[in-house]
Amino acid sequence: MAGYFEGQRVLVTGASSGIGRAFAARIAADGGDLVLVARREAILRAQADELHAQFGTRVEVVAADLGAPGAALGVTDLLARRGITVEALVNNAGLGIHGDLAGADLAAVSSQIAVNVTALTELTAILLPGMIAHGRGAVVNVASTAAFQPVPHMAVYAATKAYVLSFTRALWSETRGSGVRVLAVSPGATDTAFFDIAGEAASVGSRRAPEQVVAATVRALRSNRPDIVDGAANALLARVACRLPSTLAITFAERSVRPEPAAAQSN
Ligand SMILES: NC(=O)c1ccc[n+]([C@@H]2O[C@H](COP(=O)([O-])OP(=O)(O)OC[C@H]3O[C@@H](n4cnc5c(N)ncnc54)[C@H](OP(=O)(O)O)[C@@H]3O)[C@@H](O)[C@H]2O)c1
Repeated sequence: MAGYFEGQRVLVTGASSGIGRAFAARIAADGGDLVLVARREAILRAQADELHAQFGTRVEVVAADLGAPGAALGVTDLLARRGITVEALVNNAGLGIHGDLAGADLAAVSSQIAVNVTALTELTAILLPGMIAHGRGAVVNVASTAAFQPVPHMAVYAATKAYVLSFTRALWSETRGSGVRVLAVSPGATDTAFFDIAGEAASVGSRRAPEQVVAATVRALRSNRPDIVDGAANALLARVACRLPSTLAITFAERSVRPEPAAAQSN
């Protein structure tokens, strides 16, 4: 079977690490070309060289802070000037900050929303019309199992991921019959640098590998589902969370990511 992204130029955000890096490797192995976006340019350039040497992939690197206002337009304008057409989009860049909202650093609160919500929405809005006009392409948005219930101590992060899930499900419907495949993928705890920022208390259950998230996504792209949860145990927990009375779901979520007593005291 041909690779899902074979012959397509795919823009991957957050490609310098973790799940995004695994997406880039899989797309290159499957015969796609890439646009890699993240802040750490040197890492992206080294990755571009590796993927080109290994698979002959044509890789464009765009160093951008997706938390900055107008970042999405900055990226797409730059690509237009370089004559690059993006045929599929993986909105993967994201971050989660653990801690209660009261007393949180305002810049950190806003950067989560800017990267997880604003940049994802704007990139999709800018690139989707071209895909629809060509009658092909894909938009993959990385949500989280945090999308399925409110998560105390990570209120903003969970709310951004609920947005990603809701937004993507609606777009799936808007694009039906257009030839463009729209999919949200919700990983549970995955073994990446995510927890360098989110902290260990944010990690619920055993961690899966980024490559497992990517494999589940590529399988789902061949179906017609609007969204998937990566991993059977994560899928079961997400389903249960949606069916519980909201006070219970919130209580369980609070217990799962409650800060360690020492960390709580130092806050
Ligand atoms: N790991 C998990 O347990 C888990 C679970 C559920 C959902 N997710 C979601 O999976 C996605 C990928 O996360 P990951 O686990 O692979 O974490 P990661 O290893 O920390 O990777 C995050 C990526 O996002 C990029 N990024 C962060 N802030 C950015 C900014 N301001 N501008 C541009 N790029 C930015 C980072 O690149 P630079 O630092 O180079 O900019 C990096 O490439 C996120 O949306 C996350 O919410 C992760």
